Amino acid sequence: LVQLSNKYLILPGMVDLHVHFRDWGLSHKETLEGGARAALAGGVVAVGDMPNTSPHIRTAELYRKRVEQGSGLPILYRLHMGVPEEVAELDRARPRSVKIYPEDVASFGWQHVERLAERCASLGCFLIFHCEDPSYFKNSERPPEAEVACVERVRQIAHRTGVRVHLTHITLPYTAEATRGWASVDVTPHHLLLDMDNCKDPALCLVNPRLRTPEIRRGLLAALASGLIDMYATDHAPHTLEEKRSGNPPPGICSLDIALSLLLSLWKRGIVSLDDVVRLYSFRPSRLLGVDIDTARGSFAVVKLEEFEIRGGNFAGSCKFTPFEKFKAFGMVEATAVRGKIYFKNGEVYSLQLAL
Ligand code: NCD
Ligand code: ZN
Ligand code: ZN
Repeated sequence: LVQLSNKYLILPGMVDLHVHFRDWGLSHKETLEGGARAALAGGVVAVGDMPNTSPHIRTAELYRKRVEQGSGLPILYRLHMGVPEEVAELDRARPRSVKIYPEDVASFGWQHVERLAERCASLGCFLIFHCEDPSYFKNSERPPEAEVACVERVRQIAHRTGVRVHLTHITLPYTAEATRGWASVDVTPHHLLLDMDNCKDPALCLVNPRLRTPEIRRGLLAALASGLIDMYATDHAPHTLEEKRSGNPPPGICSLDIALSLLLSLWKRGIVSLDDVVRLYSFRPSRLLGVDIDTARGSFAVVKLEEFEIRGGNFAGSCKFTPFEKFKAFGMVEATAVRGKIYFKNGEVYSLQLAL
């Protein structure tokens, strides 16, 4: 899977199971095409896009429309469907996965989630949770206890219904331990590398779930090092800089362009192996999303083995700022190919046109 020379590394294409490509009513933040540019610049050849677009993707009709648009991209596109008002909508849409937000729990209740779980179990879809119990939110506070409480709820639902469950952007080493054997989990680069103390810009560092204490973050890194984490995903969540600099900044960090380099920096530091990099950010998420990214079929990333300084201004998507500004990262993506065609080389994304 991995070929190593002195200077370059050839990896299978990366697979990011959690991105927000926005578009439609939020195209000022990002579009399918802009999101695909950021992916290609980051060595990512397949993505799982999120349904919290405007409008939120809760119907079979919207689900199909979005999947059709995404299929015009050069990268492989998958979509997690949003929670429908009627469970029967799943029979019409037949999604591979349904994304459950704390806001869905707040508005539809856990009972609705359990009914969805039952239906999903019989249709063969899986549930992907942003796992924070909203009853623990106070004002803008979203404490770690919200994650702990959600894990317990979801464990009961998984056991009662047999539905397959994935918990995305987990923040606590507790969650990695407590989900062993019944759910898969992923972590983001920001929850591994940034915390309440070392992230200095309050607006750019604002994200859901919140950044945690340095101690919790180090525990999460230790969980990663000991193999307790199944996957790595960005939660690439673009907003405009104006929105981030406003009096009421929206939560979200974008990191699709640099996520592979940040993970390779953890390899350089000896926290993960190269096999772990491929498992966490390619093999396991490709199986979750059901995409085939076999290197032999021409989907790969070429990485130059040198240190570089992260600059949001160099990002290829619409989002061109980052709380990782000036971080030293190791392993710069030099080229990305999808199904035998090079779409990114020497800092340029090209031949990127939506078929629709
Ligand atoms: C996400 C977004 O902007 O869509 N923001 C974030 O902070 N992760 C939504 C979410 O995952 O809650
Ligand atoms: Zn989320
Ligand atoms: Zn998200």
